[in-house]
Amino acid sequence: MTIPQPFDQREFRRTLGTFTTGVTIITARAADGAPVGITANSFNSVSLDPPMVLWSLAKTSRSLAAFNDSDHWAVHILSVDQDALSNRFAKSGEDKFHGVATEAGAGGVPLLTGCTARLQCKSAFRYDGGDHIIFVGEVCAFDRSDSPPLVFHGGKYAIAASKSDKDAFSRDAPPSDASFSENFIGYLLARAHFQFYSQVRGHARAHGLSDAEYFVLTVLSARDGRPASDLIESFAYTGHAVSAALLEGLGARGLLTVSDCPSRLCRLSDQGRAATLQVLAAAKALEADMVAKCGEWEMTALKNLLKQCIAHTDPGLAHPWDVCAPGPLAS
Ligand SMILES: Cc1cc2nc3c(=O)[nH]c(=O)nc-3n(C[C@H](O)[C@H](O)[C@H](O)COP(=O)(O)O)c2cc1C
Repeated sequence: MTIPQPFDQREFRRTLGTFTTGVTIITARAADGAPVGITANSFNSVSLDPPMVLWSLAKTSRSLAAFNDSDHWAVHILSVDQDALSNRFAKSGEDKFHGVATEAGAGGVPLLTGCTARLQCKSAFRYDGGDHIIFVGEVCAFDRSDSPPLVFHGGKYAIAASKSDKDAFSRDAPPSDASFSENFIGYLLARAHFQFYSQVRGHARAHGLSDAEYFVLTVLSARDGRPASDLIESFAYTGHAVSAALLEGLGARGLLTVSDCPSRLCRLSDQGRAATLQVLAAAKALEADMVAKCGEWEMTALKNLLKQCIAHTDPGLAHPWDVCAPGPLAS
């Protein structure tokens, strides 16, 4: 392997970007008392005894003088939902701490909250590292939470999930030429949905609810008081037949009320709300069971991917909780 000549810096950056890291924000307090902070993924562990860590700062950074002068700095390992904070601290010059909650750390260093982990350090060594300065610090305090960490890979934020060491369910590999195989996304999505929902169905049936009836009630529990036509339309894409007769039937059983006005506004009754919440509680318990089995990180990653999947296949459907503009006849 050789270094191509002339040296291609962009390709070098891309190559470095194949190394997946977490994302940190390093903070310190400048000599004039101003808080400073930058986003850095050059963070790494150095030594366990004594506990030491390092990171590197570009010599062009506006915060260089502050970090050079500061006896202490703190490393914040960001959690998965702190990408906006990472972006804020990756921009030079703006008032990065404006509106950001902080606590006072060792040496008066501002500590950010809501992170996956924090390490408060006493600055120990500094080394010249080409166009960066390498800071090595001795860890004097640390804490951590259960929040999944934010990940950085190939120049983009990512989400960590552990790789299963065994194949989740493949017993006999499908024929290699099969067009419908265990890796077909349609199969995976459908099977996951049907398996999950088959465990909820029994709870719905215990309340005398068909699948379509339960779906209508859950949608009303997210946003009550919807015109019948809105409900019927919003289920058209599911293949489940939600009709005016089905809504009237739920009304006749006291689970919802259907107003007399032309828009036929549907509202959950107390009885309907209680039944829905009981089935939803069972579904939430199933979710908790999945989190316990699969892991918090995996479920966070799965939800993120499913949201992407939904966004990419969305024909323009409203979410159940979206507020539609009331029609002129709604009352
Ligand atoms: C994910 C990510 C990782 C970064 N890692 C580093 C790093 O390790 N060292 C560094 O000097 N800059 C890094 N940067 C860029 C700095 O955050 C950015 O230049 C920042 O604006 C410097 O702030 P300052 O000029 O106000 O000091 C990173 C940016 C991002 C988005």
